[in-house]
Amino acid sequence: MSEVTYNGLTFEPFISREEIAEQVQRVAAELKRDYDDKKPLFICVLNGAFIFAADVFRACDIHDAEIEFIRFKSYEGTSSTGNMKQIMGLNTDVAGRHVVILEDIVDTGFTADQLRNLLIEKGAADVKMASLLFKPDSLKAGVAPEYIGFTIPPKFILGYGLDLDELARNLPDIYVLKK
Ligand code: IMP
Ligand code: MG
Repeated sequence: MSEVTYNGLTFEPFISREEIAEQVQRVAAELKRDYDDKKPLFICVLNGAFIFAADVFRACDIHDAEIEFIRFKSYEGTSSTGNMKQIMGLNTDVAGRHVVILEDIVDTGFTADQLRNLLIEKGAADVKMASLLFKPDSLKAGVAPEYIGFTIPPKFILGYGLDLDELARNLPDIYVLKK
């Protein structure tokens, strides 16, 4: 892994694809343990979570699992605007369902908190969250995800679904902004 440059910013290697695969397997095993008999409804938060969701959804190997997609946008450049827009809504009835939100990263927590509240309002039996990455020092709203791949410092990262203004989602490894 070597440095990559996007929009004039340089990023250095942070988490390798092998380390990601290992933690995805661990999170998937925890989800299998807790949801195997609950007909869980996974909700992938687009766009960033699509790669993590595809990997963890397959790896958890739950016979009666379903997946749905929702889209929010809050980031511009390298920081959260804190101003959430629901761009694509939910089409499935969540009443009485055991819901697991799949996120790429929980930063300020505003997206996660808003989505949890929306699902509880719509009658979900319970709502939990699995996030590949969590920045606890940035949290301003809601609670920590129940399932976490990596806990990281409050630095801007990209790759494996995470973007800088829509770029770099296709990198198989995760990179961090260089000082
Ligand atoms: P939050 O609402 O501030 O927790 O942020 C949620 C969304 O911001 C995530 O789902 C990501 O799409 C995006 N985000 C947060 N931190 C980063 C980062 O370090 N790199 C790229 N996107 C990020
Ligand atoms: Mg994003």
